[in-house]
Amino acid sequence: MKPIKIGICGLGTVGGGTFNVLMRNKDLIAQRVGRPIEIAQIAMRRPNPGCDTSGVSVTDDVYAVADNPEIDILVELIGGCETAKTLVSRAIVSGKHVVTANKALIAVHGNELLAEAEKHKVQVAFEAAVAGGIPVIKALREGLAANKVHTVAGIINGTGNFILTAMEKKGSSFADVLSEAQALGYAEADPTFDVEGIDAAHKLTILASIAFGIPLQFEQTYTEGISGITAEDIQYAHELGYRIKHLGIARARKEGIELRVHPTLIPEKRLLANVDGVMNAVLVDTDAVGPTLFYGAGAGAEPTASAVIADIIDIARGIDSPHHMPALGYQRPLSNELTVLPMD
Ligand code: HSE
Repeated sequence: MKPIKIGICGLGTVGGGTFNVLMRNKDLIAQRVGRPIEIAQIAMRRPNPGCDTSGVSVTDDVYAVADNPEIDILVELIGGCETAKTLVSRAIVSGKHVVTANKALIAVHGNELLAEAEKHKVQVAFEAAVAGGIPVIKALREGLAANKVHTVAGIINGTGNFILTAMEKKGSSFADVLSEAQALGYAEADPTFDVEGIDAAHKLTILASIAFGIPLQFEQTYTEGISGITAEDIQYAHELGYRIKHLGIARARKEGIELRVHPTLIPEKRLLANVDGVMNAVLVDTDAVGPTLFYGAGAGAEPTASAVIADIIDIARGIDSPHHMPALGYQRPLSNELTVLPMD
């Protein structure tokens, strides 16, 4: 059958993982979609030694992928905001669906890009932007769609959790563990995004938008990171029966939605207190099902690739069945208020 053609922009940690998982599981994925997914083009600044790209058309110009008329889905994995925004916008205008792992892009420019996507009748999907391989966006949009959400709270930065865990369990220094997280490909290009809570705030903004049906409002999120946490803080917390975890919390209150990201003391016996290393966990409390907890790898090449490819598969299935609207992309806000959602 005629393949669905994708173009991958960026062959770094996540791009490389996406390429390798797509190649390794191509038969399984083709079976699940009903036709093959073909990597028609890759844009990269430098080769990734972990990927054998022979036989694939390669360019160093990301816009060539956006302009390539053969491509159905552009996969944006270059990160950053400036070029990524122009690239995604250009792909949308040329009628391509977009899959991205770029939380900064969605949190900061998502309202505009998703409205543009709706206008051009294409999807912009971003499962990989939040909590790495955990399908929490799909869970909120699909599995919990019948519920009124009270709270979303979780450990949503793998690097920060990796650092806090190693400081506590191995007595490592902040700087040493940060270097290790960078070497493992967990940290952002600018690791201050991880340690100052900005990355978690991007992710919380996205989760809250979906959970509460509000526009993305990154600038409204209270943001505090872990850079001020010392070994003594961790020790004192332990003596009192607590562990320090960096949480993102979005809660529906009478006055509106509260969005905050900061280190938190959690009683040692609670599940969230025992999420260690690069693992993430997101607790969603709702009216019908009550609390649900989603746990898994929050960063890294193949966990994040898993989420990227899930979006590719969803969109590919939608291309084949015009009546099937994948539960992705632009979700019409329940409220156009940019401040808070009025609660009843
Ligand atoms: N730097 C991010 C983290 C990558 O550590 O969680 C995954 O979004």
